[in-house]
Amino acid sequence: MATLEIKDLHVEIDGKEILKGVNLTINTNEVHAIMGPNGTGKSTLASAIMGHPKYEVTQGEILLDGENVLEMEVDERAKAGLFLAMQYPSEIAGVTNADFLRSAINARREEGDEISLMKFIKELDKTMDFLEMPEEMAQRYLNEGFSGGEKKRNEILQMMMIKPTFGILDEIDSGLDIDALKVVSKGINAMRGEGFGCLMITHYQRLLNYITPDHVHVMMQGKVVKSGGQELAQKLEAEGYEWIKAELGIEDTDAVTEEA
Ligand SMILES: Nc1ncnc2c1ncn2[C@@H]1O[C@H](COP(=O)(O)OP(=O)(O)OP(=O)(O)O)[C@@H](O)[C@H]1O
Ligand SMILES: [Mg+2]
Repeated sequence: MATLEIKDLHVEIDGKEILKGVNLTINTNEVHAIMGPNGTGKSTLASAIMGHPKYEVTQGEILLDGENVLEMEVDERAKAGLFLAMQYPSEIAGVTNADFLRSAINARREEGDEISLMKFIKELDKTMDFLEMPEEMAQRYLNEGFSGGEKKRNEILQMMMIKPTFGILDEIDSGLDIDALKVVSKGINAMRGEGFGCLMITHYQRLLNYITPDHVHVMMQGKVVKSGGQELAQKLEAEGYEWIKAELGIEDTDAVTEEA
């Protein structure tokens, strides 16, 4: 079993504090969902875990099996088993999807132990088939000209090929049609197990109908303010966030931006 621990994490962007003490522990074999109003720091948390240079950690810890993630460069974090599917995946012109994937896989392997081309192609074919992706997508430049939904599906292809220990999925369901949502969910569910833990950021309970989370967390104003199970997501879908604000006595109802 592996563990990703986030302890009292404070993060600033351009000198402004966005995360104000996030605590969260994710084990392999678990799926955690994070929900919360716009601008409360969900994507900031994802970026900070992955080591985006713009996000400055001013306090707290991120530990992967006890190892200090904050001391690792971005590529070292990937090598250590962390994977982020971004809310807005970037396009990389000139690098094909297949080449990108092969480099990413090899980056996690020791020198001299690179995946063979044959094995890679076989696995890529199989996974693309599983995700119902047209073959030609392997040879297209990474995300270039991909539709919103195609990009999201491609993130899952990456995750399934790279096989991280922890996958952080930022709004993987946004922009997906119903069939695509099912396919993407099928991919995530296929990863579930002893060697994989998942943190899914989502706005909608709908995704959680396909991927049953073990834990649901609510993030507000830069903190995890409430945790529960699937029923919490259902309550949020039905009633929104006002009741939590009332319960916690949060007066300013808006995101961190307005609070300053
Ligand atoms: N690079 C940046 N520069 C300036 N401000 C930023 C930057 N990234 C995030 N912020 C601010 O930090 C706050 C939290 O943003 P974040 O993207 O983490 O929110 P979120 O919870 O993911 O929201 P959403 O549900 O809309 O995706 C926002 O007020 C946002 O404007
Ligand atoms: Mg976001």
